[in-house]
Amino acid sequence: MSASSPELPFYMQGNFAPIETEASFDELEVIGEVPDTLSGHFLRIGPNPTDGDPGHWFFGNGMLHAIRLEGGRAVSYRNRFVKTPAYLGEDIQMVGPDGQVNRLATTANTHIVEHAGKFLALTESAFPMEVNRDLDTIGPVDFEGVLTTSFTAHPKFCRKTGEMLAFGYSFLPPFLTYHRVDARGKMVQSEVIDVPGSTMMHDCAITENYIIFLDLPLVFKIEEAMAGKMPYLWEESYGARLGIMPRNGGNADVTWIEIEPCYIVHTLNACERDGLIVMDAARYDEFPDVNFDSSPGLMTRWTIDLAKKSVKEETLDDRNCDFPRMDPRREGQPYRYGYSTEFADGPGLEMKQLIKYDLDVRKTEVHDFGTGVAPGEGVFAPSAPDSGEDEGFILVMTYDEASAQSELQIIDAQNFSGDPVARVQIPQRVPVGFHGNWAPDNS
Ligand SMILES: [Fe+2]
Repeated sequence: MSASSPELPFYMQGNFAPIETEASFDELEVIGEVPDTLSGHFLRIGPNPTDGDPGHWFFGNGMLHAIRLEGGRAVSYRNRFVKTPAYLGEDIQMVGPDGQVNRLATTANTHIVEHAGKFLALTESAFPMEVNRDLDTIGPVDFEGVLTTSFTAHPKFCRKTGEMLAFGYSFLPPFLTYHRVDARGKMVQSEVIDVPGSTMMHDCAITENYIIFLDLPLVFKIEEAMAGKMPYLWEESYGARLGIMPRNGGNADVTWIEIEPCYIVHTLNACERDGLIVMDAARYDEFPDVNFDSSPGLMTRWTIDLAKKSVKEETLDDRNCDFPRMDPRREGQPYRYGYSTEFADGPGLEMKQLIKYDLDVRKTEVHDFGTGVAPGEGVFAPSAPDSGEDEGFILVMTYDEASAQSELQIIDAQNFSGDPVARVQIPQRVPVGFHGNWAPDNS
């Protein structure tokens, strides 16, 4: 059962509270029918502290959850901790006695991605941790020693080249480093990008030819770090800028374009269209700290004219949202559809429903899960490798507080507001997490 106490922070209560055990279950009960076109694993990761309150929602040990779908069945569920050095009991500090950052000090709790045949559990302050489909931990990945900095939890994947485009940021110089990994998993570029200071850079975006860095005014404060607090604070005077760099270019090729101060936790996507660069993301007016108790994130479009170094900003929707996702085959390519999770007003990260955006005609639809049922991030799974954009399903973990039931709900993306086609009953509570992905067998 989940804990509930006014003394506990939100991330230790209700369905944010951690679970303690690793479990495996076969042949899950399903309400409805699992589409028989879905064959693979739905993977979800999140923080799951093992030793009481870790001090912030972001700091718990990573726990993976995997649901296998095959032949119209929900074949299995399992959950496993990522066996990081810290989880295994090593006395490992982020900053060692030599003043250097130890990139093996990781929670591995933020995202799970697949590239070049490897599954990587990511957190933005450290090296990736490789795991397999059975959720066994294989170990840290430093790309044969080429990676010496942190590695973002939000690398981008180009379906045309097979590349993984990424970056690492740090509170010690170098503050920002670009990483390009080829289709075979070899890190072919790792290059320092000059920025004025250390900011918290959670995500980026790509187009066919560019990567977009987000240098926004959530600035590292050594005093906060020394006090053991979350050390990134809002400092509007730092300014806000997008750094647009050719993906095969380098630091000298970055065009920095000033934008209105704001914060972006997650981008939805970006692309090149009619000679312009378009980027959609959930935009926060300000971000006093990383407790998400301030202004909402609103889906916003930045249209950038690189030649004129100009940018136009427009709000696309007036509902609080984050966790934007899209058809992963369209990453960096022209796209029409996107999805996000709507948040209730006020503190505590109450997730309400899913939103679908038709960005061509500027129309939205919502999927309402009913009273007391909270969704997480909606992940798009194509119905076939060559199906069209939007031809597929949204996979989302939900939790019904009254019945304490976690489900994997499967929604037809083209009947978004309709009843889910399947509700996979998870035999144990799955705490609120961060991100997930659909890993089809044919990937
Ligand atoms: Fe994230």
